[in-house]
Amino acid sequence: MNHDFSKLDSIFDRYPKNQESLIAVLQDIQKEYQYLPCEALEATANRLNVSLSKVFSVSTFYNAFSLKPKGEKIIRICCGTACHIRGAKMIQEQLEKLLEIKAGDTTADMKFSLEVVACVGACAMAPVVIVNNKYKSNVKVSQAKSLIKKG
Ligand code: FES
Repeated sequence: MNHDFSKLDSIFDRYPKNQESLIAVLQDIQKEYQYLPCEALEATANRLNVSLSKVFSVSTFYNAFSLKPKGEKIIRICCGTACHIRGAKMIQEQLEKLLEIKAGDTTADMKFSLEVVACVGACAMAPVVIVNNKYKSNVKVSQAKSLIKKG
């Protein structure tokens, strides 16, 4: 996958060049590219003067980081208790069927990623689906199609 890595410099410029900046730098890279590209991890190791194995171990330790490319639209289905009781699983299955992928995967055209997440703290709105950081409340299975059409 081709990325514009010129943005990395501005990320590195925000922080002191040492190991203490590692998590903050990785968070900014993930925000920029939606995941941690291999080239960016190598650049991070060089610029912060830490070993690549250290960068990898931090990248794989935290669930918030992903080493896999993500789609343009990231759909997160809450699978906490309140959402589960109100049918989150059926919404998940419907989205998996429509997108022809399983939760945790990204469509081949890189348009959608489907993820299942733990309670997102909005149980009163259950079931909750988050599309690119936008919360959708009281989602019904019948809305699955529209979730993957518009924002
Ligand atoms: S269980 Fe889904 S928001 Fe809490």
